[in-house]
Amino acid sequence: MNLPRISLDAVSLQYPCGTRALHGVHLQISAGSAFGIVGPNGAGKSTLLNMMCGFCQPTTGTVHIGDVLVERRSLDHIRSLLGVLFQHADDQLFQATVIDDIGFGLRNRGIPYAQAESQAREILRRFDLESIAQKSPFQLSSGQKRFAALCGVLVMEPQVLLLDEPTSDLDPRNRRRFLDVFRKLSMTRLVISHDLDFVWDACDTVAILDKGQVVAQGPTRELLQNESLLLQHSLELPLRLQ
Ligand SMILES: Nc1ncnc2c1ncn2[C@@H]1O[C@H](COP(=O)(O)OP(=O)(O)O)[C@@H](O)[C@H]1O
Ligand SMILES: [Mg+2]
Repeated sequence: MNLPRISLDAVSLQYPCGTRALHGVHLQISAGSAFGIVGPNGAGKSTLLNMMCGFCQPTTGTVHIGDVLVERRSLDHIRSLLGVLFQHADDQLFQATVIDDIGFGLRNRGIPYAQAESQAREILRRFDLESIAQKSPFQLSSGQKRFAALCGVLVMEPQVLLLDEPTSDLDPRNRRRFLDVFRKLSMTRLVISHDLDFVWDACDTVAILDKGQVVAQGPTRELLQNESLLLQHSLELPLRLQ
């Protein structure tokens, strides 16, 4: 598969209320790479991710997924390439059962119910989660919710995966499982995270975003060892380096 890169060119974004969330952001995320974005609260990380999915538009500058410009006209196409794991799994689980939830996107694509269900069951099996297939999403632990949401995204076979704080509500064992799954994926991946140890293990390249600007970017294991740089931007060394 010819995976897309992601390019942001001189992107600025001001919300209608006047808040300037992003200023002059340039980012190149290589095809098939795992790219981390770290930064303090309010830095503009979620805005950046929402903009890539077309939930909000840059005030100036451009976002491309592969060769496709993200704009209103291209949204259907862009969304067929993207898989998004939102910060709160509750925001993406809404069907009566987990199996129906995972099959939802497939059915929306016109795949018949029985086939969607069998693909959903197959992906649950892959993650050893068959036992939650008939449960309501409301009955799940936060770890199970996170994996159910991930199954619903991966079953669509996206070429680009965007993840907002994917490990924030995982216990150490689920965090390790999540990392193992993440590392086996091969699509272009962008992870926003406060969990610098996860970024250390999961991402080849990282950018630091602060006050809406990219203040540094480079190989993960160079940047995340630079304590003075991290402290300047209200971040701390990964725990393993402390
Ligand atoms: N929908 C919105 N309307 C207005 N301002 C917003 C909206 N979403 C975020 N902001 C503001 O934009 C800035 C960046 O927010 P956000 O992208 O959520 O940061 P992060 O995800 O890094 O914590 C903050 O000042 C925040 O208050
Ligand atoms: Mg955020």
